Amino acid sequence: MSYFRSHLSVKLFVSYLLVILIGMSAIWITTRFTTPSAYARHLQFMEEQMLGGGMMGPGHGRRGVLADFYRNYQTSFNESLFIAFVMASAVGLVASYALSQSIIAPVQRMKNASRRIAEGHYDERVPLHGADELSQLAASFNQMASQLEQVEAMRRRLIGDVAHELRTPLTAIKGSAEGLMDGVLPAARETYQQIHIEAERLNRLINDLQELSRVESKAIELDIRPVDVSRLIQTVTKRMQFQFDEKRITLTRSLPRDPILVLADEDRTLQVLTNLLGNALQYTPEGGNVTMTVEREKHTAKFTIRDTGVGIPAEHLAHIFDRFYRVDKSRSRAHGGSGVGLTIAKHLVEAQGGKIRAESAGENKGSAFVFTLPLG
Ligand SMILES: Nc1ncnc2c1ncn2[C@@H]1O[C@H](COP(=O)(O)OP(=O)(O)O)[C@@H](O)[C@H]1O
Ligand SMILES: [Mg+2]
Repeated sequence: MSYFRSHLSVKLFVSYLLVILIGMSAIWITTRFTTPSAYARHLQFMEEQMLGGGMMGPGHGRRGVLADFYRNYQTSFNESLFIAFVMASAVGLVASYALSQSIIAPVQRMKNASRRIAEGHYDERVPLHGADELSQLAASFNQMASQLEQVEAMRRRLIGDVAHELRTPLTAIKGSAEGLMDGVLPAARETYQQIHIEAERLNRLINDLQELSRVESKAIELDIRPVDVSRLIQTVTKRMQFQFDEKRITLTRSLPRDPILVLADEDRTLQVLTNLLGNALQYTPEGGNVTMTVEREKHTAKFTIRDTGVGIPAEHLAHIFDRFYRVDKSRSRAHGGSGVGLTIAKHLVEAQGGKIRAESAGENKGSAFVFTLPLG
């Protein structure tokens, strides 16, 4: 039974068989009931003819009686066969209609649902019964619909978030310009500098958004090849050392003695490291420590960037990689963070076949960002 329910081909085959059986049964039952009465009628007709014309009328030999007998039998059989044919056709028609409806109905429901979705009703779903191919199709259809619903919700939220993010620096620029026009703000170097800073922030935000849209739509091309980890670490240290020195934060590295090769895109991995180091620098007060560690694991290289900074409260840890998510909105924004750096980093790591996570013992207890890349 369950095999029957889970295979459309079996269902169709059995349906055809059922229609044939129903038709055959209709023929059998009809002929069974109609043949005797038709035969009796024809016999009676013959009898009347015989009696009217004498038992053995002229020209009627024994052969003639048998021929009449046979003809009458044939006529009565044909008559009942005709009725049976009509009956079987009618029953077959009804049965085929009912059976095909039961198969077509779910397809029709899906057709209607897809039309509703195309019109923008993303909450549309089709009911699920059984386990055959059509039900599996319905399940996939529902899955697709809920994914579309999620994408749509994400798109709406994104537009809202972007509008909000753009408004903040624009409001500042507008405020300064108005202050200048009204003479409230002095036409001094400082005022122009403030406007420039805000414009710069806007620029950075737009660049980040562009990068985010590229990584989210997987439009970046990765140039995956074996990369020497110690060279990666050296390059990123060289790039960032000055900023660490400036803030008087110690940057230490810890690498295994044996060289490690990872299968990765060098530039993208540098981008991830720069991003994580940039955050460590930003969220660690002066005099703190940041360590960069690489360890070899079974199939991956594990990179850890640990700081002694402000830490991340447990309730925020799960959201830290969401776009525009910041633990402390005002502080982060004041430092020019757009809240998408970690989102981009996560996409980049995952696109290279790795994983990334954040750890923190709590506020002011420092944080660690750990990501993996496949070994080369
Ligand atoms: N090393 C860190 N220490 C503490 N908090 C961090 C650290 N890195 C990231 N965060 C938190 O995660 C948020 C998101 O980081 P990110 O995506 O880089 O955005 P941004 O730095 O632009 O604010 C930050 O706003 C901050 O609250
Ligand atoms: Mg950042």
